[in-house]
Amino acid sequence: MKLLRCRRSFSTSASLGKEIAKNLKGKSTSSQGWIQRQLRDPYVEKARQENYRCRSAYKLLEIDEKFKILKPGQCVVDIGAAPGSWTQVAVKRTNADEKIPGKPRGFVVALDRLNIFPIDGAALVTCDFTRPDAEKRLVDLLNGRPVDVVLSDMAPNATGVKSMDHDRIVALALKAFKFGLQISAEGATVLMKLWEGRSCKAVETELSKFYDVVRWIKPKSSRSDSTETFILGRGFKKSNVV
Ligand SMILES: C[S@@+](CC[C@H](N)C(=O)[O-])C[C@H]1O[C@@H](n2cnc3c(N)ncnc32)[C@H](O)[C@@H]1O
Repeated sequence: MKLLRCRRSFSTSASLGKEIAKNLKGKSTSSQGWIQRQLRDPYVEKARQENYRCRSAYKLLEIDEKFKILKPGQCVVDIGAAPGSWTQVAVKRTNADEKIPGKPRGFVVALDRLNIFPIDGAALVTCDFTRPDAEKRLVDLLNGRPVDVVLSDMAPNATGVKSMDHDRIVALALKAFKFGLQISAEGATVLMKLWEGRSCKAVETELSKFYDVVRWIKPKSSRSDSTETFILGRGFKKSNVV
């Protein structure tokens, strides 16, 4: 459901949205609610105006404004990246598209099980991250380059059973986190999406073993009725990885 929401905001313009709104009749109650919420959501319109593929861009932009995690020249791995708004932000802020004159060029690799429409400056991988070959495909693209920032906005299709959805997103985040331990440069950053639940504390404890500072973040642009939350680890300590 989360995935569908993000993809719809990528492909649906405001004018099309208004047209759809005229035709709410016959739609399920949840679809009608979703359409109406999209039309009222200022971030959906802002994303359309600023050419972001999805309102999610503003979550990363907000986090980056506050914590300054993305810089020109950095290497970023973005896991669970479709439709690509975080990748767009990462490309711009690291200068992977070389649009900031005089600044070092960054490198951004993005993976999703769904196809991502090309993004200038990003290397894209279409693969389920839980597949055995997924990590190798990313490692091959990195070609030995240490990673400065690992992003995971991965979210499984929600079943509506909160505890089950929580366990599934935690499993994805922990997989991204463990992969990050292997590819990250000293001092690197990790940022992962979770849905609140019983394992959040355990995830925090795990991150604290390898990162100097660990913070929970709920950006303003994250819907208040969502249990979505983000965990940020800064100052990766490579020597703590055995
Ligand atoms: C919230 S969306 C990501 C939005 C993205 N950060 C953006 O700004 O455009 C979550 C994504 O996680 C992806 N995902 C979920 N499970 C995955 C898996 N096992 N492997 C790869 N991608 C996965 C979904 O396909 C979906 O595109």
